[in-house]
Amino acid sequence: MSSNSGDSRGLFSGNLGYILAVAGSAVGLGNIWRFPYLTAKYGGGIFLLIYFLLLFTFGYALIMAETSLGRNTRLSPVGAYRTFADKQHSFLKIGGWLNAIVPMIILPYYCLIGGWVIKYMFEYLTGGSASAAADGFFVGFITSNFVPVVWHLLFLGCTAFIILLGVQKGVERASVVMMPILLVLAFVIAVYSMTRPGAGAGIAYYLIPDFSKFSIMTVVAACGQLFFSLSVGMGILITYGSYMKKDVDVEKATIRIGLMDTTVAMLAGFMIIPAVFAFSGGDAAAVNAGPGLMFITLPKVFESMGMGSFIGAAFFIMVFFAALTSSISILETCVSTLTDELKWSRTRATMFMFFEAIALGIPCSLGFGAWDFISIAGLSILDMMDFLASSILCPLCALLTCILISRVVGTQKIVDEIKSTSAFKGEAVFRFCLTYLAPVILLLVLASSVAATLGFIKI
Ligand code: TRP
Repeated sequence: MSSNSGDSRGLFSGNLGYILAVAGSAVGLGNIWRFPYLTAKYGGGIFLLIYFLLLFTFGYALIMAETSLGRNTRLSPVGAYRTFADKQHSFLKIGGWLNAIVPMIILPYYCLIGGWVIKYMFEYLTGGSASAAADGFFVGFITSNFVPVVWHLLFLGCTAFIILLGVQKGVERASVVMMPILLVLAFVIAVYSMTRPGAGAGIAYYLIPDFSKFSIMTVVAACGQLFFSLSVGMGILITYGSYMKKDVDVEKATIRIGLMDTTVAMLAGFMIIPAVFAFSGGDAAAVNAGPGLMFITLPKVFESMGMGSFIGAAFFIMVFFAALTSSISILETCVSTLTDELKWSRTRATMFMFFEAIALGIPCSLGFGAWDFISIAGLSILDMMDFLASSILCPLCALLTCILISRVVGTQKIVDEIKSTSAFKGEAVFRFCLTYLAPVILLLVLASSVAATLGFIKI
């Protein structure tokens, strides 16, 4: 996947090449870090139920739609929107750019969390498993203002370095080995967590929906998580689809990627949520620990396993790789927009994104320390950026994509594109979701997240 225009467009080699590349980009911190803490925060089972309902209906439809739109037009999101935005729909011109901005907002805080992962990796590699498990270690770390920024720079530096050297392929190949190890390791840790005394309450919290915990924000959060984890609703899949060969079965590939992504997320939930109950007594504060949940809970699990340093080091190394393959693809997306649309060189685009990610990453980090007084609707700076990207901009972009497809490109064209290689058993579901269900849910989500930002609903 190298050049971006016309016939010189590099293509993924066949089915497996496509699936592995997209899965490498999809499986990352979204699954291991973000999914468990949101599930814990938004009521456990009820969040899970809504996540699955959304995934099988409108998530599926959106992934298929974006991918086939890309494969059919062989364009990046900005190009695809520009090509189709006719006179009646000139507002769609900005749609492409809205899509392109989302990864630019995600990159800074993604790399900050990536930096936290590196910090923990080093802590474990240097035998600090007991100190990492101690109460207050995490809070001490993230409130230390510029210290996390140094780790952030390290993670961002790795990402930018790999993009500049053009060695993504090497990293992707390494991660093909790392991923299965991560899965096995996560499975072992999950079984261990689930068999601790007191973990049963956590498993129940995770799996059994408690309808009294339902609020419209559960839907907003689940929808945001779907976008973040599957990298959908931000035009990424349009780009990936445009690199897809005409003989890849879009439906099968989509289902496999979705399965992989969901499996990793579910496993991460089984590792972390029962452990919160077993190791922190399930108190409300621990369940609501927010972005720090994984970093607070897992070290306690590793410590109690007896081989804390070894398991902890192995775990954080794997997570580092999973995060790196995702951050590479986030940065690559930004760079390709800038090189295609503004005709910048790759180096210039990469350097621009590097400094942008520093400029926005620093406030995210300080938001837990010196700047913790800055907050909207109770959210820290990092949470605000995350909310803006996944709960406001992604739904908006996804809505525009639905309009683009159903009103301008024509759903039939996309259906034909999918049918050219797939049996497309889900055609009826697809048509219904794309034309009716998705726009309704998206409007609802957008209205709620705007209302929440203005303080009318509690986030
Ligand atoms: N989906 C990735 C994860 O779960 C993160 C991600 C968000 C991403 N946006 C992206 C990856 C854009 C690639 C491109 O961690």
